[in-house]
Amino acid sequence: MSDILEIRGLSFRYPEAPRMAVSGFDLAIPEGEIVVLAGPSGCGKSTLLRAVNGLIPHMYGGEYSGDVLVAGASVKGSDMRELAQKVGFLFQNPENQIFMFSVERDVAFGLENIGTPREEMRERVDDALRLLGIGDLALRAPHELSDGQKQRVALAGVLAMRPRLVILDEPTSLLDPKTAGELVDLVAKLRRELGTTFVIVEHRLDLLVRVADRLVVMSEGRKVMEGAPKDVLLGEGSEKYGVATPAVTRLQKMLARDGLATADGLMRPADLAALSEKRAR
Ligand SMILES: Nc1ncnc2c1ncn2[C@@H]1O[C@H](COP(=O)(O)OP(=O)(O)OP(=O)(O)O)[C@@H](O)[C@H]1O
Ligand SMILES: [Mg+2]
Repeated sequence: MSDILEIRGLSFRYPEAPRMAVSGFDLAIPEGEIVVLAGPSGCGKSTLLRAVNGLIPHMYGGEYSGDVLVAGASVKGSDMRELAQKVGFLFQNPENQIFMFSVERDVAFGLENIGTPREEMRERVDDALRLLGIGDLALRAPHELSDGQKQRVALAGVLAMRPRLVILDEPTSLLDPKTAGELVDLVAKLRRELGTTFVIVEHRLDLLVRVADRLVVMSEGRKVMEGAPKDVLLGEGSEKYGVATPAVTRLQKMLARDGLATADGLMRPADLAALSEKRAR
């Protein structure tokens, strides 16, 4: 399958910043993948996302080299209006993306901006509401909704544009664990049903490793690890780069070290028996 996102040797420094926020970054994502981007605070995750949705270089000044291609077209060479139709972007706080009188007006906002004909707008809004399971909220005022519902409304607004690529910056940070889990399930469903590609910056790796195809770890503006989530988390560098290792992976590592499980976590009944024996001793 062809790559929906290709980042080639991207480096970027904010105006007057002492150092590069992103340095020599390469990444190629085939269409339909769910990719998680992790790494310590300040390592450049949000900056990288801005270079994908075009805020960098179109809205921020600064020093830019390398290239970012979305569906084969250079972000630098596309205008923001074109990009808005290809790349959906969800802010960390859905309040920033919700402003109007009713949920359906809100979801229609982006489509109105690009001058979508009324009938098509109606259809796309209804589809998005249905996909996210919030059809019954269509006439409600967004400010009356729970955080989880607001997050869905904001995501419906993004999906109504039918972007091939959606980027999410810490989408679960305001959600309780149950709602965060529902959001992750929803991402998996959207990928399955629409073939949408997702790039997600997230600290809650425990929720996302279940559905992600690829985990990319950044440190000081550079890509330092990349691979299947389990391989990356089990790899030696994951602790060094401060990727919060989910409890399950930590347990697996411990068991593997004690020879009680293989690195991919398979435990035989005999191993389990040995483990409980060891505990009892
Ligand atoms: N608007 C800005 N102007 C100047 N420097 C910035 C700006 N935004 C971010 N930076 C700097 O760029 C570097 C990367 O920041 P970025 O926000 O991309 O990191 P991050 O990985 O998203 O961090 P976090 O996990 O805290 O959200 C940091 O050194 C940060 O201080
Ligand atoms: Mg950030």
